[in-house]
Amino acid sequence: MLKYDFNTYVDRYIDKEEYQTLMTKKNEIVEKLNSSDKNGWLQRINPELVKRIKQTANDIKSHFDCLVVIGIGGSFLGSYAFDKMLRDYFQDDKFEIIYAGTTLSSKYLDELLKYLKNKNFCINVISKSGTTMETSIAYKLIKDLLKRKYTKEEIKNHIIITTDKEKGNLREEVNEEGYLSFEIPENIGGRYSFITPAHLLPLAINYDLDEIISGYYYGKRLLDESYQYAVIRYLLFKANKVVENFCVYEENMSFFTEWLKQLFGETEGKNGVGILPISTIHTRDLHSLGQFIQEGNKIMFETFIKVENTSNYIDYQNRNLHEINNLVEDSVMRAHYKGGVPCIELTLDEISEETISTLIYFFQLAAAFSGYLFQVNPFDQPGVEVYKEEVRKSLEG
Ligand code: PA5
Repeated sequence: MLKYDFNTYVDRYIDKEEYQTLMTKKNEIVEKLNSSDKNGWLQRINPELVKRIKQTANDIKSHFDCLVVIGIGGSFLGSYAFDKMLRDYFQDDKFEIIYAGTTLSSKYLDELLKYLKNKNFCINVISKSGTTMETSIAYKLIKDLLKRKYTKEEIKNHIIITTDKEKGNLREEVNEEGYLSFEIPENIGGRYSFITPAHLLPLAINYDLDEIISGYYYGKRLLDESYQYAVIRYLLFKANKVVENFCVYEENMSFFTEWLKQLFGETEGKNGVGILPISTIHTRDLHSLGQFIQEGNKIMFETFIKVENTSNYIDYQNRNLHEINNLVEDSVMRAHYKGGVPCIELTLDEISEETISTLIYFFQLAAAFSGYLFQVNPFDQPGVEVYKEEVRKSLEG
């Protein structure tokens, strides 16, 4: 399902002795993760909850024209990135899902409100804290539209809230108004919340939830490889490779790299340490950042995510275009390595519900291990709160 090459284009940058030492620390680090109070994403999801999610997804499909998902950060990126990867580029016949809450752009929100005016839509507001500004603003604007269209009683059928079990404004609203709701468990932080209703409900509308869940837990078998990946990244950082460029060869994976940036950026970037995650979509970015990577400041290493097979084979001059794409990937790794950039390669069989979910688990595990290697808390994001606080003060003042 997932193959790894941590050696070919990496080897000479890794201190072998340190590598061996860190590999012997695996059990200690696994133990830290197992005893963390934020490791709920390792545990099996309750089958009754899965049933409820599927039922709600079916109800949405049968009663509405589209679903508006309102959320940001860890309450949005997982399902958005996944959805983008699994949809067809053109002539897409899946149920319409629109995302809001990620921007304060008046243009975006104004156009969205106009678009929704004559649609029969329902909303899923997702926020663990229930206080995030972007989510709250989009929710208020869209709820006002619902109020203009429906009675208080009717509105109840159009709102689903996914939030903390007990705390926050959204939970209070659920208790007061009796809206349908789902929980984001206390022991799962935003960017690790893929295996919760925050992402599974929007995804259950168009995708096979059983495959998503089985693919996710398959990732448990990849613990050794996740740890090895975390160690190699850490040693590259110590060799002054402080930027990790995630490289993909499918346009539809561009938001998966955004998910990766949040996962690693928020997990490691604290106490003055951490690897800066960036991304390039190939081959188009080889014609922009490619120059810097090949010949610029040598601060970077790369993680290539290759997809072995595709559902769409095209012949190009008696060759297979997908093979050409993968051949380019190999050539780029060689070229960048020659230019002083270490390259790690992860290869997926194909893009499917199962494989993407496995990859998500693999990266979540690696990010958590990495947090421990950097000796930071992998599950908090105090820096994100700083800007939120500044905004609160400016709005009040
Ligand atoms: O990873 C995280 O915890 C954050 O990025 C949050 O997901 C993000 O700030 C949104 O928070 P909330 O779900 O509370 O609205």
